[in-house]
Amino acid sequence: MRTLSMRLRLALWYSAMLALALSLFGVSAYFAMRRSIHVTVDEELEARSEGVRHLIERAFRVDYTENLEDSLREHSELRTGGELLQVSDSEGHWLYRSDVMSRLNVPSPQNPRAKAYSFPDRDDPLRVLDRILMAGNHTYMVQVATEMDDFNLALYRIKALLLVSIPIFLLCGAFGGYWMSRHALDPVDRIIQTAKNISVQNLSSRLDVPRTGDELQGLSETLNNMLERLETAFKKITQFTADASHELRTPVAVMRTRAELSLRRARSVEDYRDTVAQIHSELERTTELIEKLMFLARTDSGADSIPLARVNLSEIVREVCTQGSALAEGKQVAFHESLPAQPVWIQGDEHLLRRLFLILVDNAVKYTPSAGSVEISVAEKNGTAVGEIRDTGIGIAAVDLPNIFERFYRADKARSRETGGAGLGLSIGRWIAEAHAGTIEVQSSPGLGSTFQVRLPLSKNGG
Ligand SMILES: Nc1ncnc2c1ncn2[C@@H]1O[C@H](COP(=O)(O)OP(=O)(O)OP(=O)(O)O)[C@@H](O)[C@H]1O
Ligand SMILES: [Mg+2]
Repeated sequence: MRTLSMRLRLALWYSAMLALALSLFGVSAYFAMRRSIHVTVDEELEARSEGVRHLIERAFRVDYTENLEDSLREHSELRTGGELLQVSDSEGHWLYRSDVMSRLNVPSPQNPRAKAYSFPDRDDPLRVLDRILMAGNHTYMVQVATEMDDFNLALYRIKALLLVSIPIFLLCGAFGGYWMSRHALDPVDRIIQTAKNISVQNLSSRLDVPRTGDELQGLSETLNNMLERLETAFKKITQFTADASHELRTPVAVMRTRAELSLRRARSVEDYRDTVAQIHSELERTTELIEKLMFLARTDSGADSIPLARVNLSEIVREVCTQGSALAEGKQVAFHESLPAQPVWIQGDEHLLRRLFLILVDNAVKYTPSAGSVEISVAEKNGTAVGEIRDTGIGIAAVDLPNIFERFYRADKARSRETGGAGLGLSIGRWIAEAHAGTIEVQSSPGLGSTFQVRLPLSKNGG
């Protein structure tokens, strides 16, 4: 079943609430008015019955000479509302009965009621009050009444007015409510329309933000922020894919050219061996590149959470130094290590940490000309493990320093083919340092050398 639109639901709820409120108002206004009329009439009846009481009591005074019936008639004829009076004795004989009362045939009550009542029935033309009066040895039944026609007519008119006006108010209110909810939700429609049109092709589009300071402004801003993040992430991925394919194209092109050249005519076994060796070394570099790309792709997907264990950083760096000194030796670069005798415990992944320091040592050797030197040290400083790789190499220009940790960034692009770097090492290194809640920093002077510092938090459970 199709659910109702939000604006219709809002309007229906609003109308239902309005109907309830108006009906409650109508019913309570009507009954309050009716009650207030009855209270006023009843007070007046009470006062009139008191008047009759005085009259009857006076008749029993010793010096009283008039006939009680005559006094009652006189009273009835002179007083306002007196035409509605009747008095009977305990046997039910009428002492006095006004014309109106006898015409309306109000009976003398068998059981007088304590409060005034409508006669003959609810909302009928008479309101009657019964009172029993004792005077001398006599008991009298006094009944005073008021004609309710005018009041009932007024109540009837009010009832009719309410019955006509409430549905009209309700109708106007319902239309108003629907119009308001339509109007209030229009911006949501616009958001939906714009959001529908945003795709990969126009990720830079943004929603219009209504300056209303309400939830809709908040929603549009939140969605825009989300689009901003998506766009950045998407650009990063596109850039990464473009750079990666570009990097892979070069070695493939080199291998293809070498193979084609060698196949152009018959060659000696040595020539073929030479070509295959060149292709093999190119393949090794390509494999390494693919491995780095895959590593970065994995870090981007965030799929791997790295399992941390208590490891000795000093021992890890010692192993890296074995590889480092071999690299340095091949380039006639002096290699010095300064590692503490006691272990430096940190929480980390041995394999990743080895990779991090190898990246730095590899760079230090790679960017230091022969006769230069590379120095590596590990120490504990202020509760942090600090690994330092210092070289006397070509250094990094100040303009390049902020970028060297970016993917595919190489300070000297022309050299890259010779050195074989893809510009990925340091971005991998930084990810590893940060994954260990650590940092990596560099200081460098072109022509004098560079120093890379890795800071990692020490393991908390002792060392
Ligand atoms: N010790 C260093 N001395 C001088 N320049 C450096 C040093 N380390 C890094 N660089 C500069 O920073 C750039 C980025 O280094 P990174 O390790 O990320 O890439 P790469 O060494 O070029 O390639 P890859 O490490 O992927 O093989 C290098 O191209 C180089 O220009
Ligand atoms: Mg490198």
